[in-house]
Amino acid sequence: MALKVEASAPSNIALIKYMGKSESSSNRPANTSLSYTLENLRTFVTIEEGESGWQPLPGYPELQLSEKGRLKFLNHFERLWSTWNLSGSYLIRSANNFPSDCGLASSASSFAALTLAAYELARRLRPELNVTLAELSRLSRLGSGSSCRSLFSPWAVWRNEGAEAVDLPLRLEHAVVMVEDGHKAVSSSEAHLRVTSSLIYEGRPARAEHRLEALRGALAEVARGSKPAWHEAYELCWSEFWDMHALFETSRPAFGYMNAGTLRCLNHMRHIWQSTGDGPLVTMDAGPNVHLLFRQEQKEEAAIWLKGFDVMTSWGLKS
Ligand code: PMV
Repeated sequence: MALKVEASAPSNIALIKYMGKSESSSNRPANTSLSYTLENLRTFVTIEEGESGWQPLPGYPELQLSEKGRLKFLNHFERLWSTWNLSGSYLIRSANNFPSDCGLASSASSFAALTLAAYELARRLRPELNVTLAELSRLSRLGSGSSCRSLFSPWAVWRNEGAEAVDLPLRLEHAVVMVEDGHKAVSSSEAHLRVTSSLIYEGRPARAEHRLEALRGALAEVARGSKPAWHEAYELCWSEFWDMHALFETSRPAFGYMNAGTLRCLNHMRHIWQSTGDGPLVTMDAGPNVHLLFRQEQKEEAAIWLKGFDVMTSWGLKS
């Protein structure tokens, strides 16, 4: 029987963003980032002996990859294969368990899953191979920077080579408010390059590092039950995603992802905080959708807060 392996990996949402690279070709970040792992938004990958190429994995919403996306994916496999001194031709199949047209970034989960599946296969072929999770994370980074954080859960921090787990006993619930289905006008690779043309890029790595330290402190307090620290965490996350989107809008040429639906949702969340003194952590990726993180005990209230929005949640609520 032909050799076949499968693996899956989750997506992640950064609260301190990776935006801007210190070395473009190898995805070295300009600053440290911190993410929460989205365990139920996953990519599944199978690799089997056969004609080299990529196909959508059946049994999930059908994934469509552009020619460029396909090449980037296959090149990542080739890079792993030559790192581990392996050869042969393999068919790679992949799919996400969330609709690919809902505007959720899937490159983090895709490249992490491919790295894990390739390692699984490599171990079958070379059982003596012993690669640490830190090294797998570093290798995954070469495919897609943000994917290196998906190998750790629930919190990951990524400084330079690869990510590592954060000692933070805090589990949150995740919701994404989907305001647009369309595909991105500017890819994240392009965004990383373009933000350096913004006049406010100067000082950005220092701002991110500063917020990171403050946020780690606040989240540690939240884990110990502090309510004021949750508010502090909200304010830090809020200013952080606006910082990234301000870089987009002040780049030359400027670009952006927010639309009327985004702003309606952001205003609504801010209003909740202002009127109740509580609410979710709010953040955004390089896209128009709004990501929310809740404490466990906020789930009931969240159903009220999210009424009227097209939303996908980690606890199954769909409105
Ligand atoms: O991994 P990339 O190159 O697709 O970068 C994505 C960067 C953001 O998602 C916008 C932010 C982050 O830290 O995940």
